Amino acid sequence: MIRYFSHCITLCVLLWPLGHSAPAAAMVLAPRPQMGFNNWNSTHCREEFSETMIRGIAHRLVTLGLRDIGYSYVNLDDCWAEPDRDPQGNLVVNHQRFPGGLKRLADYIHAKGLKFGLYTSAGSFTCQKREEGGFPGALGHEMQDAALMASLGVDYLKYDNCNHGALDAGQRYRAMALALRRSGREIFYSVCEWGENRPWLWAAEPDIDANSWRTTGDIEDSFQSLLKIYNENVVLDAYARPGHWNDPDMLEVGNGGMSSTEYRSHFSLWAIMAAPLLIGTDLRKIDPAALAILSNREVIAIDQDALGVQGKRIRNQVDAQVIVKPLFDGSRAVALFNPSDHAATITIAATELGLEAANHYAVRDLWRHTSRNSTAAISAQVPAHATVLYRIHATQSGQ
Ligand code: GLA
Repeated sequence: MIRYFSHCITLCVLLWPLGHSAPAAAMVLAPRPQMGFNNWNSTHCREEFSETMIRGIAHRLVTLGLRDIGYSYVNLDDCWAEPDRDPQGNLVVNHQRFPGGLKRLADYIHAKGLKFGLYTSAGSFTCQKREEGGFPGALGHEMQDAALMASLGVDYLKYDNCNHGALDAGQRYRAMALALRRSGREIFYSVCEWGENRPWLWAAEPDIDANSWRTTGDIEDSFQSLLKIYNENVVLDAYARPGHWNDPDMLEVGNGGMSSTEYRSHFSLWAIMAAPLLIGTDLRKIDPAALAILSNREVIAIDQDALGVQGKRIRNQVDAQVIVKPLFDGSRAVALFNPSDHAATITIAATELGLEAANHYAVRDLWRHTSRNSTAAISAQVPAHATVLYRIHATQSGQ
C-alpha cells in the first residue's frame, strides 16, 4: 500500500507538466538533485582557473562518460569577472582567464550537450577578499545581471552570500529570484547562504523557489570537514524534496586529502542524502580510483532516485551511523557508516528500515556490486571511516 502510494506520488509529480500549463519552475529544473562540475574545490582563484581548463573539463565530462551518467552542469565559480563593471554597469569577464569570452564558452559547452553555470554573490562584492582584487556582486544590480546571464546562455546560477551589509537574506534572494524569472531564460537557482538564516525554512517559498540551498559552511578536503558537514546536513531530511534540495556543498572526491575509503564514504553519504553531486576535482588529471567512485552508477541511482526523498538517520552512535532512504521501487537504500577510528560491526533489523517483515531479503552491495540473501538481521563489518552502502528489498513474505 505504502509502495503503491509512493509510486502514485512520483507519477503525479512526473505527469504534473502535462496537466498544468504553468508548472512550478523548480520541478522542471530540479526533479532530481543537480549533477555536474564546479571548479572551486580544485582551483579556488588560482590562475589555472581559465577557459583552457573549463573547455578541457567539458571535453573530459564527455570522453570519460560522465555526461552520459548524469553530470550535466559545467559551473564557473568566483573570480571569473573583472574587478569593475563597464560604463553601462555590466559585469565584465576577465579576458586574461577567458580570452574567448563567456558566450563562446557557453556555446562550446552547449554544443557538447552540457549546461553552463555561473557564480555571483547577493552582496556588493563576491567572497573573494576586496584587498585581493574583489569582484562585483549583484546586490542592487539583480535585473541587469540576470539579463546579462540569460543573454550569455547561463543555465545555472550559484548565488553566494558575501558582503551584504546585513540586509535581510530573504529579501536579497527574493530580488534575484524575480530577476531570474524576468530574464526570459530558465535558470537553475542555487542559493549559497551557508545555512546562516536557515534557508531550508524559506528558500523554497514560491517567490524564491530556489532549487537548492547550501546548508553549511564551505567543505574542505579532510575527513574532519566531511564529518562536520554531514552531521549538519543529515538532520535536515524533512526539507528536501523534488525541486528543492539541501546542498551540503560540492564534492572533494579526487582532490587528494582523503583516502579512497573516505571518499567512498563522502560519495555514499551525499548520495543517500540526495545531495547535489558537483564534481570538484580537475577531471583532466583525475586518478582511476577517484573516477571509479564518481562513476558508480548504482550509487548515483540512489542520489537520483525518482521518489526524491533525502535519507533519514535512524542510528546515531560514535561508531555506527545508519541512514535509510526509501526508493521509488519500494526498496530501501541503507548506509552503514562508521565515523570512528576503529572497525565496527553494524547490525540493523530490516523492519527498522521500513521494509515489510519477511524471511529473506535481497541485499545488493553498491560498492562491491554483489548480491546476497540475508535474514532479517542485516549486518556488516565496517572499517574505520568506511561506509557500506546497500540496496535492500524483501524477497519472501514472512506472513
Ligand atoms: C564562498 C562559497 C564557496 C565559494 C567561495 C568563492 O565561500 O561558499 O563555495 O563559492 O565563496 O569565493
